[in-house]
Amino acid sequence: MITQTHLESEILKRRTFAIISHPDAGKTTLTEKLLLYSDVLNTAGMVAGRKGRKGAHSDWMSMERERGISITASAMQFHYKDKVINILDTPGHEDFSVDTYRTLTAADCAIMVIDAAKGVEKQTIKLFEACRLRKIPVMTFVNKMDMPGLEPIDLLNEVEKVLGILATPMNWPIGGGRDFKGVYDRRDQQLIVFEKTAAGGAKKALMHQVSKEDLKKFLTPQELSQLQDDLELLDMAGNPFVLENFLDAKLSPVFFGSALTNFGVEPFFDAFIELAPAPKPYEAIGADEKPIFIDPIDSPFSAYCFKLQANLDKHHRGVTAFFRIVSGLFEKDMLVLNHRLKTSSRISRPSQLSGSDQVTIESAVAGDIIGIASNGSFQINDTISTTKGGFRFKPLPQFQPEFFARIRPKEVSGRKSFDKGCEQLSNEGAILLLKEENSPDPIFAAVGRLQFEVLEWRLKDEYNVETTITPLSFQCSAWLVGDLKTFKKNTTAIIAFDLDKRPIVLFQSTWEKEYAIKQNPHHKLVDILES
Ligand code: G4P
Repeated sequence: MITQTHLESEILKRRTFAIISHPDAGKTTLTEKLLLYSDVLNTAGMVAGRKGRKGAHSDWMSMERERGISITASAMQFHYKDKVINILDTPGHEDFSVDTYRTLTAADCAIMVIDAAKGVEKQTIKLFEACRLRKIPVMTFVNKMDMPGLEPIDLLNEVEKVLGILATPMNWPIGGGRDFKGVYDRRDQQLIVFEKTAAGGAKKALMHQVSKEDLKKFLTPQELSQLQDDLELLDMAGNPFVLENFLDAKLSPVFFGSALTNFGVEPFFDAFIELAPAPKPYEAIGADEKPIFIDPIDSPFSAYCFKLQANLDKHHRGVTAFFRIVSGLFEKDMLVLNHRLKTSSRISRPSQLSGSDQVTIESAVAGDIIGIASNGSFQINDTISTTKGGFRFKPLPQFQPEFFARIRPKEVSGRKSFDKGCEQLSNEGAILLLKEENSPDPIFAAVGRLQFEVLEWRLKDEYNVETTITPLSFQCSAWLVGDLKTFKKNTTAIIAFDLDKRPIVLFQSTWEKEYAIKQNPHHKLVDILES
């Protein structure tokens, strides 16, 4: 149990981060290797095959297990060496960007995994953009160096050009694919020799280090001269590593390795805990609507809700609200104020997710993620604290939905469970429930198509309701700011209202939307709602 005396040292130990990547780049594998090196897993043998990986620790929903995709974001805590790691599991599938974005707001740092053969891919660009919006420092792991890939220099150029950030290689690969010899650590000035680990990386890899002087014993004369040329070029023309630039999200340190074979994984994690920031002050909006900063160590307990998740545990139905602790010490049975409702409540069963188990915790500090049973009392963005400061954390933006459908229960008898399920699942934020004037049937709106499938599946699995989905032909939307009466609407567009009664216009095409923008110069059509 953490006490006030150790508060500062405990907070400084926290590393709260997310791993972002395009599907298949190796995020799950790297996450598992982190668990392996943290002794949470004894072997990573369960990752031997895609199918065998169904038990991956952070994949706790049965649909995720069935599909082998990560669809909801969870957080896990464990120790790595002398640090406490809070890893936020972000969905890799592009349909879940809203959820991912919200999760990234709870991270102090991100690890970007890039496939050495594919470079910077589409989903990586989107996720990186989300990090940039929140100025989250990003460390890069170029994965799959045991396979043939692009030239390292081209990969660096791509990171710089496509993502618009400086890239500094912290180590440098020698050879690639079959001829991969290892990486040269530029800070320690030594070679780490690549060895294929036993059992396909199920066990920790031993690190064989070779000093600069002994390089010629391990490398061919060509490899040695190529390495010397490369290092000289990097020293002369490359970006030097400057910690402040990394922390300001202007520079990404790049590490080459191979998650599957455990190569370069441990030095990468060691560098990560050394370089990644401990919890930082968060910007909030004060009682007088002016910005204030909440310091993680000096301010008393405060947290904000970045995620709601219904039916985490099939045996105890209900909604869990996930809070990122922004400041101070949280203790079980603490009385906290909900700044939106202006009511206080005692948090008697705070929990943390440890793999597939939700465990009750006694205490937690800034940087940690806690789950609180909600019973409808918490919403995304809610601020809680022990002080009556009246501040709130900056709201998380909402993205315009691009997929729309009507969803109905197949049997009339399922109506009640259907309504309850729809309300709870839309409160989680991945699906928007829209109401059209004079129409009893709601419209379901989502940023990605797969979210409908997830909704349908979860209604069946968790609420026992079979549904039919009728897709609607709208392709984009925007929230409407301005006088509704004077808004000139295209005949095929419709106006609906979200649960906060904000009007949102649904369009058949982007062309139609652009036309509406031109036709209504005194109105604003908003794609990303900031509050
Ligand atoms: P993701 O979470 O980013 O989607 O990627 P994941 O870790 O699932 O990895 C995608 C595929 O890439 C997996 O192969 C995985 O084994 C492989 N992989 C990950 N890291 C490396 C690496 O360093 N080297 C090589 N050669 N492969 C790597 P799969 O065939 O889809 O699954 P599996 O049958 O191997 O489990």
